[in-house]
Amino acid sequence: MQNILDVIELNKTFKGKAGDVEAVKGVSFAAAKGEVTVILGPSGSGKTTLLYLIGSLESPDSGEIRVCGEDISGTSTALIKYRRERVGFVFQFFNLVTALTALENVTLPMDLAGLSASEQHKRGVGLLERMGIDTRLQRSRANKMSGGEKQRVAIARALANDPEIILADEPTGNLDVATGKIVVDILVGLAREDGKSVLIVTHDESILDVADHAYKMIDGKLTASG
Ligand SMILES: Nc1ncnc2c1ncn2[C@@H]1O[C@H](COP(=O)(O)OP(=O)(O)OP(=O)(O)O)[C@@H](O)[C@H]1O
Ligand SMILES: [Mg+2]
Repeated sequence: MQNILDVIELNKTFKGKAGDVEAVKGVSFAAAKGEVTVILGPSGSGKTTLLYLIGSLESPDSGEIRVCGEDISGTSTALIKYRRERVGFVFQFFNLVTALTALENVTLPMDLAGLSASEQHKRGVGLLERMGIDTRLQRSRANKMSGGEKQRVAIARALANDPEIILADEPTGNLDVATGKIVVDILVGLAREDGKSVLIVTHDESILDVADHAYKMIDGKLTASG
């Protein structure tokens, strides 16, 4: 089976007055459709940097990211399409637009992808309902919601343009244990039921239980876990 994601020899160094930080060093791994990959690592080990490189929010100094066998930075049009439609992000601090409603947060990426207003509405409502966000909450502003509700809205937003890859950065970091488990179950369901390739970076060891592939990240380097 062809991999959805191939990460090949990625390197990223941040240069600063106080010295350089080699945040990601020679990281390679692959993930297939329907798989959950978990990367466990302590603070400062390079997890967020790696996720940003994979999501193309940062560019690597060297190395390559292939999606379905194609280099994501092959052309600038392909790169824009990749960012908007082929990858979805879930963050520790939710990163919702607090002045917008839940539904508006979910339809925003659809707007950027050029969906009609009626399609945006229909699809947004469907995704939020699937995440257990009812009609009243769909119309509530994001800043009035609980952490678990915010994270479920953020997952619906990540799914807005039906990406192949979901990248989750410490998705349970601001949730209590029970709510965190619900969020992890949702992410696992996206892999198992929808065939997404889900990548979770975290320091929460309990998430290792759901991993098809588990890695450790230490000082920018990735090694197989266990
Ligand atoms: N934009 C940046 N400029 C300079 N240095 C950075 C930048 N982003 C990250 N770093 C450095 O790179 C290293 C890796 O940081 P990163 O945020 O990827 O770690 P992390 O594993 O996500 O940590 P945490 O678990 O605390 O979120 C750290 O030493 C950090 O200070
Ligand atoms: Mg981080």
